[in-house]
Amino acid sequence: MARVFSGVQPTGNIHLGNYLGALKQFVELQDQEECIYCIVDEHAITVPQDPKELREHVLDVAALYLAIGIDPKKSIVFVQSQVSGHAELGWICTCNTSTGELFRMTQFKAKSGGKESVGTGLLVYPTLMAADILLYDAEIVPVGNDQKQHIELTRDIAQRMNFKYGDDCFVVPDGRFMKAGARIMALDDPTSKMSKSATNELSRISLLDEPNKIKKAIMKATTDSDGVVKFDIENKPGISNLMTIYAAFTDMSFDEIEKKYEGHGYGDFKKDLVVIVQDALAPIRERYEEIRHSDELIEILEDGAKRARAIAEPVLKRVQDKVGFGYDK
Ligand code: TYM
Repeated sequence: MARVFSGVQPTGNIHLGNYLGALKQFVELQDQEECIYCIVDEHAITVPQDPKELREHVLDVAALYLAIGIDPKKSIVFVQSQVSGHAELGWICTCNTSTGELFRMTQFKAKSGGKESVGTGLLVYPTLMAADILLYDAEIVPVGNDQKQHIELTRDIAQRMNFKYGDDCFVVPDGRFMKAGARIMALDDPTSKMSKSATNELSRISLLDEPNKIKKAIMKATTDSDGVVKFDIENKPGISNLMTIYAAFTDMSFDEIEKKYEGHGYGDFKKDLVVIVQDALAPIRERYEEIRHSDELIEILEDGAKRARAIAEPVLKRVQDKVGFGYDK
């Protein structure tokens, strides 16, 4: 069994991009591999957070994990800040990364907008993400495409430290990306990715959205004017994005979808997609409501943190020994 690690930030609006790019993989992998899924609250404070809301969002994401089908008997589910090794190994990774590497990260450039007044955490964040993964000797990291550069950096840090301190310092992980879903675009602007923070609510479908909101967002989604259901990212990014969502939920190929809608306009296609998405999200919303305020939720997270610590502590100790912390006895 390979070890799998991934995480999601505890912010509101967990959306179809998060689900189809990452969360859906989490569920698929738990039957074959040893899976560890984290709610990364330490990453969340790279931008200002209201403490009360942050605590709520942590439980929101935990409940969503369970609602989509992550089984805490099979997978470890826990909150990052409850395992101190993340921050400790994060510092060691930071000290083995150059500022140039961090300034080159496209997410940093996008989020900082070139301003020097942004928090340092936003710059250093990828080394904490590297530590999240390396702390568990994880081999597989299921994520969306936007995390590719961070996974590459994690591999660079691991290889660099293996060279410096010996090959058994870190396991070098691989990213795992979905064929359909690795990059879901905004519904109102298919040239930018679907994001939690976009101001237009109709740019995304959140996993807990009501059927009416789902309908509105899909029916209003930006498409071109030639009306042919054909997958062509370059020239028809809007319909291609909707076809990606369709394919990810139905397991149909783009060819099959094109054939099915030959001679139909976008209207028929969109109406069917509305039903597909509504049907897929309804049971998630229902389970979420049952779990979110149950006593069991915090117990699951506390048990998960205990199991995570048991894996993380010996790895952290191994790396600390290598870099020269502690005493020679
Ligand atoms: P976050 O919280 O922004 O997103 C969670 C996951 O959703 C994926 N994702 C998308 N996939 C497809 N289309 C989109 N439009 C889309 N938007 C987001 C992300 O790629 C991610 O897999 N840094 C990470 C969290 C993290 C992490 C880790 C992940 C912290 N430590 C260790 C893996 C391993 C983040 O901010 O994801």
